Amino acid sequence: MSLIKKPIQVVLIASAILMVMVLVGLIGVSFVMEADIHLWVYIVFPLFVGVVALLLFYYFIERFINQEIKAIYRVISKKKNIKINPVKLNENVFQSLSETTAAWAETQQKQIENLEEQANFRREFLGNLAHELKTPVFSIQGYILTLLEGGLEDETVNRDFLIKASRGVDRITSVLDDLDNISRYEFNRFNLKLTKFDIVRLTKEVFDTTQSSAEEKNITLSLFQNYDPIMVSADKGKIGQVLINLISNSISYGIENGHTQIKFSKVSRKQLSVEIIDDGIGIEEEHFNRLFERFYRVEKSRARNLAGSGLGLPIVKHIMEAHQQSITVNSTVGEGSVFTFTLDLA
Ligand SMILES: Nc1ncnc2c1ncn2[C@@H]1O[C@H](COP(=O)(O)OP(=O)(O)OP(=O)(O)O)[C@@H](O)[C@H]1O
Ligand SMILES: [Mg+2]
Repeated sequence: MSLIKKPIQVVLIASAILMVMVLVGLIGVSFVMEADIHLWVYIVFPLFVGVVALLLFYYFIERFINQEIKAIYRVISKKKNIKINPVKLNENVFQSLSETTAAWAETQQKQIENLEEQANFRREFLGNLAHELKTPVFSIQGYILTLLEGGLEDETVNRDFLIKASRGVDRITSVLDDLDNISRYEFNRFNLKLTKFDIVRLTKEVFDTTQSSAEEKNITLSLFQNYDPIMVSADKGKIGQVLINLISNSISYGIENGHTQIKFSKVSRKQLSVEIIDDGIGIEEEHFNRLFERFYRVEKSRARNLAGSGLGLPIVKHIMEAHQQSITVNSTVGEGSVFTFTLDLA
């Protein structure tokens, strides 16, 4: 604060001295020459000179300070063309400079942290990917080798091995499909095809495709109540994918003889919320934020060897973000989970 006042004080004092000097000079000249100099010359001329001097000082000092600030920025950021807001002499230049520098340093720090996070993420991603692909590849290799090494006498066992190998191939294909989807979503290389459709009907269609896996665990898939058609505006194919992922999860992480219910509620005149409610194993709160990261799986799911690669929820999240809608989770271990997403009513 006090520092920046100095140049102003210097300017003012210098202008005052200049004015006095010019005034004294003029009076001196008028005495020596005994000339009749008018009063306005004594006052107006020095004032004029003083004001011009003041403006010049102001201009040069402001320019000087701005150049110095730009030079400082250049040194710290090593960039040539930096746009900074020019400072004014009546501002607290040094405070604003230190504030801007601190803000700049903070953004740099964040960028560094982001890069470190990305590097870690890449390492983790490659590790996970290798693991996801290696597991089915090893089992396929095992089945093929057994068959190659003379095969087995029993035709049905041979066939069983081939079926198992083929399941391994399906697993790899599904991981690759998910990865392909994710990378397209992340680079925004997909266009939503918005249409108006009945979400109740779409949910029933998804029930049909997931029914057989639900039956394996005797899980009942149902709607919370009887609904009339509810028209929404969204990409039907992508919302179908969201429902398949969430309903499949409720089955994979559901208990034997469990239940999955879908509930629709109008949250406003324009928005609908869709809840996928299960009474499965549940998720601890500490995992809620990470569930939507690529390859993230709750340890229990890994330990129980439940099939899955942790790509379903990240895909769901991307689809919801593309629709500018939200997806949230709530869950209690041992009681069940609720995944809720929103949609625009048509
Ligand atoms: N309804 C649920 N109940 C309990 N845990 C769940 C539920 N849905 C998801 N999870 C947990 O979240 C993790 C991530 O789910 P996500 O759908 O992304 O991957 P995944 O089901 O493991 O694999 P996939 O890529 O085949 O979907 C799961 O591994 C599981 O631990
Ligand atoms: Mg899943």
